[in-house]
Amino acid sequence: MSDERVYLDHAATTPLAPAVLEAMRPFFAERGYNPSGLHAESRAARDALEEARRRVAAVLGCEPGELVFTGSGSEGANLAIKGAADGARRAARNRVVVTPIEHHAVLGAAEYLRRYRDFKVDHASVDANGAVDREAFERLLGADVAVVSVGYANNEVGTVQPLSDLADGVRASGALLHTDAVQAPGALPLDVDALGVDLLSIAAHKFYGPKGVGALYVRRGARVVPQVQGGTQEKGRRAGTENVAGIVGLAAALDLAERNRDANVAHNRALGRRLRAGLAEIDGVRFNGDPERRLANNTSVCIADVKTEGLLLQLDRAGLAVSSGSACTSASLEPSHVLLAMGIAPELAGGSLRITTGPDNRSEDMDRLLEVLGEIVPRLRAGS
Ligand SMILES: Cc1ncc(COP(=O)(O)O)c(C=O)c1O
Repeated sequence: MSDERVYLDHAATTPLAPAVLEAMRPFFAERGYNPSGLHAESRAARDALEEARRRVAAVLGCEPGELVFTGSGSEGANLAIKGAADGARRAARNRVVVTPIEHHAVLGAAEYLRRYRDFKVDHASVDANGAVDREAFERLLGADVAVVSVGYANNEVGTVQPLSDLADGVRASGALLHTDAVQAPGALPLDVDALGVDLLSIAAHKFYGPKGVGALYVRRGARVVPQVQGGTQEKGRRAGTENVAGIVGLAAALDLAERNRDANVAHNRALGRRLRAGLAEIDGVRFNGDPERRLANNTSVCIADVKTEGLLLQLDRAGLAVSSGSACTSASLEPSHVLLAMGIAPELAGGSLRITTGPDNRSEDMDRLLEVLGEIVPRLRAGS
C-alpha cells in the first residue's frame, strides 16, 4: 500500500492554490499598505481592494458596493443575522427562522439573539434527506420575522436547498433571507438574483483561498446594523483595516473556482459514483443527504455498529484524512445535530463518516479508502 496520504476532507478546508498565493504575495510585503490613507502607497492598496471587490461582484452578479469583506464565514453569518435582526427591531420584527441543520455559526447567532436580545427563534423542519419542508417553512413566516437563514448546501450531508423556491415566501413576509453559502463556491451557481437572497456569506478557505477572510453580500437597501464598531472601512459596515492580501486571495480563488466549476463537478461526481458503489457493498451503510440535489464532492454515510472515532483513527493511521461532519465539532463525541434533525437514530448517527473530494483526488484514492474500510469495519465491529 502507498505511503502517500490521501486528503478527503475538502469540506473542512482546502489548501491554498499556488496561483492564489502568487496573487497575494505582494500584499504581504512591498504592497502591504493600509488602503484607507491618502498617499500613493495607500491608493495602490485601495485599488487592489476595489479590483478584488469588482471581481467577486462579477461572480455573485451584484454591485461591488453590495459586498462587505469579513474575517470568516462565521463572521459573515453573524453580521448577516444579528445585523438584520438589529435592523428590523424598530419595525417590531422580533423573530428569526433558521433550519436545524445549519452550521453552528448560524445556530449560534440565532441562539445569541434569543438569549441576549429577546428574539424568538423558530427552526423549520427538514425531511429525512435534509431538505427543508416547504409548507412547514412557509407556515413559520410572518410579519414579525426579521431574518430567515437557510444554508445553500449542507456542510455535513451535502443536501442543496431550493433557495429560489423558498425566497418568494420570505420576500412576501418582508423578512430578509440570508444564505450560508460557504460550501457553494466552485460547486454551485452563486448569482444572488437567481437565488433570490438578500444576504449571502462565503469563506475563501473553502475554495482554495486563504483562511481568515470571507465576504458577505448585502442587497442594496437591506438594513443590516454593523456589529463591529470603529473606523469607516467597508462603508462603515465592518470596522477594521481590511486584510488586503486575504481579499485579493479570495477574489483570485473565487475566479478560479468559478472558471473550473463544471470540470470539478464532473470530476467529483465520477469519484462519488465509484465511492458510493463500493460503500453500498458494506453491510449496514446508510447514505445521508438528498440523492439528487446534493454537492457533487460530498459522500456522507452512517455505518451501523461502529463508532465514528474508531473509524477516523483507523483511517488516519492508514493515511486517509476523513471527517465525521463539521470540523468545528469533530472533537465532540456527540452525534451530529444535522443527522439527528434528519431523524437518524443516535446510535446510527454515532457512526458517521463524511468524505469530501477535490480536484487532486484520483479514483485510486476511492479504491484505497474502500479497501481500508473493508478491513477496519469488521475489525471494529468484532471489537465493539
Ligand atoms: C456551511 C458552513 N458555514 C460556515 C462555516 C464557517 O466558516 P469559517 O470557518 O470561515 O468561519 C463553515 C466552515 O466549516 C461551513 O462549512
